[in-house]
Amino acid sequence: MPKMRSVQVARPKGPFELVERDLPEPRAGTVRIKVQACGICHSDSFTKEGTFPGIQYPRVPGHEVAGIIDAVGTGVPGWTAGQRVGVGWHGGHCGYCDSCRRGDFVTCRTAGQVPGITYDGGYADYMVAPAEALALIPDELSAVEAGPLMCAGITTFNSLRHSGAQPGDVVAILGIGGLGHLGVQFAVKMGFRTVAIARGTDKEPLARRLGARHYIDSRAQDPAEELLKLGGAKVILATATSGKAFEAVLGGLAVDGKMIIVGAADALQVSPLQLIGGRRSIAGWPSGRSIDSQDTLGFSALTGVRSMNEVFPLERAAEAYERMMSGNARFRVVLTTGK
Ligand SMILES: NC(=O)c1ccc[n+]([C@@H]2O[C@H](COP(=O)([O-])OP(=O)(O)OC[C@H]3O[C@@H](n4cnc5c(N)ncnc54)[C@H](OP(=O)(O)O)[C@@H]3O)[C@@H](O)[C@H]2O)c1
Ligand SMILES: [Zn+2]
Repeated sequence: MPKMRSVQVARPKGPFELVERDLPEPRAGTVRIKVQACGICHSDSFTKEGTFPGIQYPRVPGHEVAGIIDAVGTGVPGWTAGQRVGVGWHGGHCGYCDSCRRGDFVTCRTAGQVPGITYDGGYADYMVAPAEALALIPDELSAVEAGPLMCAGITTFNSLRHSGAQPGDVVAILGIGGLGHLGVQFAVKMGFRTVAIARGTDKEPLARRLGARHYIDSRAQDPAEELLKLGGAKVILATATSGKAFEAVLGGLAVDGKMIIVGAADALQVSPLQLIGGRRSIAGWPSGRSIDSQDTLGFSALTGVRSMNEVFPLERAAEAYERMMSGNARFRVVLTTGK
């Protein structure tokens, strides 16, 4: 039986373990992917720490996968060995439940699957994924470039393009990490007056280089007041991991402004009066479907949006994950298999 390398977590809060496993066979409706690159998302901490309900261990994390189809299971029309594909957070759906019949595959409750959570993900030489989870990678993007776009990219691109903001509107990106640094670029390319909000001044030059028109240091300034000086934000895309940080900017929304929460932060406190008078709202946003990933890849190829990456080989996954968690990575950490 041919073997492959995987990096697994054997139990909640357990260490990453580099293990040898049998090469998996693609079942009906799935393909086997030779993984070339896999981004490390902050959401991988769900698997590492055991904070997502229902994870069965051992589990191989990784939902920012880019690679090549290596073998195709039965009943997979339209996909062939050799195609370059990505897999993101939305890792499968049933196609027949109420949500899916509305075309809303992301909220599928019957077979909603996530690589790295409900099945083994991309911290490995190979993985198996349902065909409906695949996005085609355009030639312009390398695997290392495509990986982070499969979660950090699609989540910010897809939420911003459905946010209701129009070109010229003030759009703030709160939290400049893996998601945030891509959010800044997408907002700029979509023609928004883009404001980056982060702690300290360290990230200002990079945020400006990525196209941010304004930078707010939330430690030195009141971010809500600063946003109001710009007329108020039509949209605040909250990518940070702190509910307190969300509270501090909420007052910077314009009339009819919306805070879109993508960061899986702790609780936040909101006064209804902050929302009622100005018809302000707070919404959540999950990444999107595989076709949204493909749109993200296409838009990035077209406009030059790229993740800034620090690349580590697969066998250094533990160190790479710590680098992501430290907040010091600029800005995404990506594992490569050398394939
Ligand atoms: N909705 C979705 O579909 C979706 C998809 C992917 C990820 N997520 C979630 O989104 C969040 C971000 O993920 P990521 O991969 O981008 O993580 P990341 O690379 O670790 O970035 C998080 C950023 O938040 C910043 N931050 C934390 N507390 C802050 C505060 N009080 N004020 C300002 N900035 C603050 C950090 O800045 P410092 O450097 O100053 O610490 C860091 O740059 C995570 O909670 C993740 O689980 C959600
Ligand atoms: Zn993610």
